[in-house]
This record gives sequence, structure tokens and C-alpha cells, in this order.
Amino acid sequence: MATTTGAPGVALDPPQTAQWRETWSELMEGFVPYLAGLEETLCRVAEAVHGRAPRRVLDLGGGPGLLAERMARRWAGAEVTLMDIDPVLLALARGALAGQVRALEGDLSTPRWVDRTGGGHDLITVVMTLHYLPSSQVRAFYDDARRCLAPGGLLVVADLMPDDGLPSLMSALDPAPNEAAAELAWAQWWNDIADLEVLRPLLAQREAVFGSRPPAEFTAPVSWHTAAAREAGFGQAGILWRCGRHAALAAVA
Ligand SMILES: C[S@@+](CC[C@H](N)C(=O)[O-])C[C@H]1O[C@@H](n2cnc3c(N)ncnc32)[C@H](O)[C@@H]1O
Repeated sequence: MATTTGAPGVALDPPQTAQWRETWSELMEGFVPYLAGLEETLCRVAEAVHGRAPRRVLDLGGGPGLLAERMARRWAGAEVTLMDIDPVLLALARGALAGQVRALEGDLSTPRWVDRTGGGHDLITVVMTLHYLPSSQVRAFYDDARRCLAPGGLLVVADLMPDDGLPSLMSALDPAPNEAAAELAWAQWWNDIADLEVLRPLLAQREAVFGSRPPAEFTAPVSWHTAAAREAGFGQAGILWRCGRHAALAAVA
């Protein structure tokens, strides 16, 4: 069930909601090369780790809910929750996914988010989100995420993770994503959505959230994330996927 926790309901036009989510999806594909391949890989690994479909799934920093929606479709019967701090993106997720995905407001920079989710998750995903936090909070996040997983649950963190000097075959085969173009498209997307009269109150809330804390732009190699996960008590942690400067870490609680 969708919930309105933390943000007022907004009457978004369904076709408009669909269009904004579609252009968001294109935006993310501009940042993350082979995003679809990453998603397929993490879903298969989650199924392999449990020997069944995950039953409780949490997508942190889930934005307008593209991955949450795909996981809810893939694993019919799973309880899929999305959490994000951005009221505008939450409104898009709620407008599109009511009844399919529970959408919660939550701030990953404090441990309080864990209790709001109810814990006991088989799978937690965090895609292109941890770089918003400074290193000390990312370190603390691994502890929070472990507490939020069921025993044996899987955490997947995908973000910019420079590759420790190991060459990436994928980046040798294909040109790197045009990061400047992706940044421009990001700025344009936010510029365009700011024209939506119906979102004005949420855009003001968004400004209040991010105005005082711009993204930390934290990046660290996979080895840093692996060490942080192990220190937080994850039994196994290692690289799941890499393409160019982007990688995904998988850790089992
Ligand atoms: C680049 S977007 C990625 C969104 C989504 N994972 C995707 O792939 O489409 C980063 C997301 O992290 C969220 N975020 C940033 N800081 C956060 C925080 N402290 N707590 C929760 N979410 C946060 C943003 O609101 C945004 O939705």
C-alpha cells in the first residue's frame, strides 16, 4: 500500500506522472551505463542468495520508483518499500505506484530511518544515492542497513566507485557515459518540473531539504565500501557489477 507519510498528497495527472518518470529513467540511464544490466544482475543474485524471490524489499533513495516498480512486478507478492527524502520524487512515486509499492519519507543520514521501515528485509537496494552523504555517514549507513536486513539478507549499493586501478573491460569496449551531458539533462529536468504549478509546495519543501545540504559527492573505491560493510558486521561483501567508473557492491548480512 502506498502511504502519504511525510508529504502531503498531490493530485498529479497520471499521464504527466508517467511522462516525468519516463524522462527520469532516461536521465538515470545517461548517468549509469548499462543500468538495465545492473538491475537484472542484482535481481538474479537476490534470487540466488535466497533460493527464492525476496519477500521484503527496500529501495533506499528510490526517487520516483522505477526500480521499485520493476522489482514489484518481477516478484509479485513481495512487499516492496521505497524510501526517499525528496518530496517531489516521492509524489511521483506515490502517483504512479499506489497499491504496488509503499513509499516512505526518510533521511539516510540518521539511523532513524531503520525503524520506519519495520526491518527484516531480504533485499535492500541503494542506487546512485550514497554519494549524497559524507564518508562518516556512509560508514554509519552500512551499520544501519545491516540492522534493517533479515539474517542472510542482501544489500546492494551501486554508485560511482573508482576501480582501485583494475581495468574495466566494459569501459574499454564502450565509450564512457557523457557525464557533462547527463548533468545538463539533470539540471534541465529539474528546471522543467519547477514549472508545474501543482508541485510548487513540494518544490519549496525540496529546497528546504537540500538547500542547506548539497550532495556531498562522496566517491570511494569498492575496496573502501567492502571494508565499511565488513566493519559493520556483514559476513560477505564484494563487487557484484562494474561498468566504467560505476560499480555495485553486494553484501550479505
Ligand atoms: C540520483 S538519485 C537516484 C534515484 C534512484 N535510486 C534512481 O536510480 O532512479 C538520488 C536519490 O537519493 C535521494 N537522497 C539523497 N539524499 C538522501 C537522504 N539523505 N536520504 C534519503 N534519500 C536521499 C534523492 O532524493 C534521490 O532520489
